[in-house]
Amino acid sequence: MSDLQKQQYDVLIIGAGGAGLSAAIKASAAGVKVGLICKSLLGKAHTVMAEGGVAAALGNVDERDSWEVHFADTMRGGQYLNNPRMAELHAQEAPDRVRELEGWGALFDRTDEGKILQRNFGGHRYPRLAHVGDRTGLEMLRTLQDHGIHQGIQFHMECTVFRLLKDGDRVVGAFAYDREKGRFSLYQAKAVIMATGGFGRAFRVTSNSWEYTGDGHTLAYDAGAELMDMEFIQFHPTGMVWPPSVRGILVTEGVRGEGGILKNSDGKRFMFDDIPDLYVNSTADNEDEGWRYTQGDRDARRPPELLTRDHVARCIVNQIKAGKGSPHGGVFLDIAWIKEHIPNAEAHIKKKLPSMYHQFKELAGIDITKEPMEVGPTTHYAMGGIRVDGDTQMSTVPGLFAAGECAAGLHGANRLGGNSLSDLLVFGNRAGDHAARHAKQFDHVAISDAALENLKKEALAPLDRFDDSSSDAPGPYQIQYELQDFMQDLVGIVRVEEEMKDALGKIGTLKERVKEVAACGNRQYNPGWHTALDLHNLLTVAEAATRAGIERKESRGAHFRDDYPEKSEAFAKVNIVISKEHDGGMNIRQIPVKPQTDKQKTIIEENV
Ligand code: FUM
Repeated sequence: MSDLQKQQYDVLIIGAGGAGLSAAIKASAAGVKVGLICKSLLGKAHTVMAEGGVAAALGNVDERDSWEVHFADTMRGGQYLNNPRMAELHAQEAPDRVRELEGWGALFDRTDEGKILQRNFGGHRYPRLAHVGDRTGLEMLRTLQDHGIHQGIQFHMECTVFRLLKDGDRVVGAFAYDREKGRFSLYQAKAVIMATGGFGRAFRVTSNSWEYTGDGHTLAYDAGAELMDMEFIQFHPTGMVWPPSVRGILVTEGVRGEGGILKNSDGKRFMFDDIPDLYVNSTADNEDEGWRYTQGDRDARRPPELLTRDHVARCIVNQIKAGKGSPHGGVFLDIAWIKEHIPNAEAHIKKKLPSMYHQFKELAGIDITKEPMEVGPTTHYAMGGIRVDGDTQMSTVPGLFAAGECAAGLHGANRLGGNSLSDLLVFGNRAGDHAARHAKQFDHVAISDAALENLKKEALAPLDRFDDSSSDAPGPYQIQYELQDFMQDLVGIVRVEEEMKDALGKIGTLKERVKEVAACGNRQYNPGWHTALDLHNLLTVAEAATRAGIERKESRGAHFRDDYPEKSEAFAKVNIVISKEHDGGMNIRQIPVKPQTDKQKTIIEENV
């Protein structure tokens, strides 16, 4: 392959959001040569969609907070399907990672005493989210980037990995193409870290941008790694619903954290109607109690708008189904209500939620200081992903690590808001550390020209298939839209077996059509060709999520089944794991959840 670009790294990181950058900084500090590939431009990552804050038990606003309470909250939010070791490490290490970030220049909002300010968020017992207005993910990414570019890391932007390369069992590199010129690259590496985020683009309504097509999940799965908890997809309760062009864009939970309330078309604050058993003793059951909490009365009970996301999203869907939704198919999120209680409310809202103010003003012509927003659930986050070791973040394939959203384990059946940003700091750091250690034990391995030539042919197939008579061949966008449509309708917030089986049949049909998909044009910046290549990833994650959804015959966390509306003892301690069979089929099996140690059990008992 004469036009092949060649690079060698000790540690290769795929994905340049918060997890990838954290991993790169840590690996680089360990003295190894680090390369970082991103599909988009540096700085454009889903990390910025975690707006409201990063969860860390700093105890700045309520000194009763501790890593133990954060650990217990995370386990309860995940309905105890979390890997307890990961939840423990996460809660213990998040405060140090946040302070480290501050040391690198992150400008968090401050308390009156000058400490990092923390706000309330769903499922967190105490105000725990360190934040920068409603732009926390953006500020974190900026800081990691600014710090990272001085660490000797080599960045490869607008580059997409097509396949991981293996030597026997071990991952030894990646084969990729650059999106601008369509040239192919070989990246040899002694360890590879997946940090590619999620797969919201498999759904019609999502907060994810175009990059999030399940690439890391699929690359790892194709290389023999296991996927876990794929049935648990988080539908964030509040995305924009109007106008249609912005449907799905995130409306931060910070709005509710600052006292925003949800109302239906009758003006009723409906969240009081349904408090789940797990939270019955800690949630307010009248407006006064809920309001005391948002005012900072530390002993008041929590407002029901700050119940976990899975529950709030379902309550919103129920209102809409009952015909009590807003004109454009959502419900009302009313921050203007604060005006009744806070002097200078307009300035307060603009200071605390500047992006939300501008987002609604510019995109929907709504002034949120005066009018309610219309919001509805949006596909936001995958709790499931690559199965990893809790301490090292190595997958079941030697040399392949994963961190951030594309890794499974920390969040169980449902993630608490803000735990995504602390996850990517803690486990990005750990993955970087352990990948560097792993890399130091190995040398580079030669990759055969024949293997590379085959990969090139495979990648070019959609372009090669196109000729003037291919106007009937399925176009890549058409297939992607069809997939998004039926995944939203059949494997969405409320699921039933029959519909998921229907989805599985449709996925099978699309897999056949993808074999014929043709993309016109040439290799230079050609989004149609790129989408044709993404389809394999989208269909793989969609199939895994659907199969896992069928397998889990109960409702738990983000997975709600109308045909099995209750939790089941049989699934209470089970994770669902998916791997690739030799014949290419998907193997699905149940494994016992990692047991809690006695100490972890005691911490949970004492703090829930
Ligand atoms: O609502 C939000 O600001 C999102 C945060 C998160 O997903 O962690």
